This record gives sequence, structure tokens and C-alpha cells, in this order.
Amino acid sequence: MKGVVLAGGSGSRLYPLTKITNKHLLPVYDRPMIYYPIQTLVEAGIRDILIVTGGKNAGDFLRLLANGREFGLTHLDYTYQEGEGGIAEALSLAEHFADGERICVILGDNIIEGSIRGAVEDFRRQERGAKILLKEVEDAERFGVAEIQGDRIIGIEEKPQRPKSNYAVTGIYMYDETVFEKISRLVPSARGELEITDVNNAYIREGTMTFAYLEGWWTDAGTFDSLLRANNLVAQSRARQRQREAAPVAAGAERDGV
Ligand code: G1P
Repeated sequence: MKGVVLAGGSGSRLYPLTKITNKHLLPVYDRPMIYYPIQTLVEAGIRDILIVTGGKNAGDFLRLLANGREFGLTHLDYTYQEGEGGIAEALSLAEHFADGERICVILGDNIIEGSIRGAVEDFRRQERGAKILLKEVEDAERFGVAEIQGDRIIGIEEKPQRPKSNYAVTGIYMYDETVFEKISRLVPSARGELEITDVNNAYIREGTMTFAYLEGWWTDAGTFDSLLRANNLVAQSRARQRQREAAPVAAGAERDGV
């Protein structure tokens, strides 16, 4: 399976932080935001990765990430989105890269605590269709929201005023090769964009969409509050990690009477 990181958009909700740089290059604790989704894909065993970006700072991604050596990769692919056509339009630029293979797509501002490895493995075994990851949230109206009946997902509403559940559709999507044909049949939404939610609903109508619940915390980072939350969550995780790493040493020192 190949990986696609979507890192375009104007980042208007973070203005003026995004006045002179791309949202995905902003810091989240000790790393640039885009490091996290790349790491998520690499950890899931995906090594063939395309970065879709746009705007004035596209060249900065190449300077920052180069060939992905920091992630243990030997190569990264890049492509450029002209204009602001939405997430699904950005994804359509990955057709040539995908070259008939399945893809795992992650939004460049989605940061998770855990791993998607299990879900990616499950999707490898799925005969066809798509798979999304859901997370229970308190502010579902900010996201795509899943309507679930039993063990089936029957629809997704994009930023509904009255959400039908507390389950947000995270920005991690797995698609078979029919995704590009589905995108080509989309019509722009009221805000003039090709919506990823419409792609997902096309799979739901076809009866080939599966889902899993994401373990550990999840956040986006596209607003001031969620960017702050992302920073805090990563900082707390790093602190816990440092404690875990220090613990055996401290325990050993105690044993040795130091
Ligand atoms: C996008 C999607 C939405 C999804 C969210 C996850 O929203 O449209 O369905 O729940 O990402 O981060 P956006 O961040 O573009 O508002």
C-alpha cells in the first residue's frame, strides 16, 4: 500500500500564523506538524509516500523533508495543488503516483498517539472498497460525523449542526483503486470544494466501506485551539516517554544504593 499526505490549503483558520508559511510547517511541540502524519504512515509499514502541497511555500517542504532520511526512507514523492479545490481534489493529484495500487491517505494536520498498523493490515485483507477510522469527540460538529447502525456505517455528514453521533471521521482514509473514478464524479459542495466526505459516502452507498475505532488520542491542528491541544498532547506524551525511559535506570540506581 502506498501513502499520501495531504498538506495543501491556505490555513486560513490559523491566520496570521499562516501568512508567510504553510500550516503543516508550523511547530507542534518539538517537530514541524507534517512530521507526525509521515511518521504515522512509516510506522504502519508504508514506505512509498507522496506529499501533496501547494501555495507559496511548496519548496520549503522539499528543503525540510528532502528524501525522508529522518524517517528511514530513501525517497519521497511530491506534487503541487494549484488553487484551493478541497481535500478530494488534492487527492485526485495522487492518481499517477498510486498507479493502480491501494492508498492510505492522511491529512497533514492529523496527529495521533497510537498506531494505524492494525487497521492498515486489516485493509490489506479487505477484498475491496475503503476503510476509515473513527474517534469519539466532544465537538463532533467540527468534523465529518459518522452515522452508525449496529456494526455498519450508513452515512457521513460534514460539519453537521446537529451531529447524529459523537464519532468524528478522522483524517485517515484507506482506499482501493476506484477512488479516483469516484472523485471524478463529484460535484463541488456549497463552499466550492470537492469534499472527502462525498468520496466516503460514495463507498458507503456502494456497500464497501468498513471502519475501525482509533485507539489513543487524536487531534487535528488547524485552528488555534486544536493547534494548542496538539502541542500539549505531544508534550505530555513525550514527558511520559521520558519517564518510562528513565524508570529502569532510576530503579537500577536504587538497587545499587546510588
Ligand atoms: C476535514 C474533513 C472532515 C474530517 C476532518 C478531520 O475537515 O473534511 O470530514 O473530520 O478533516 O481532521 P477540515 O479539517 O478540512 O475542516
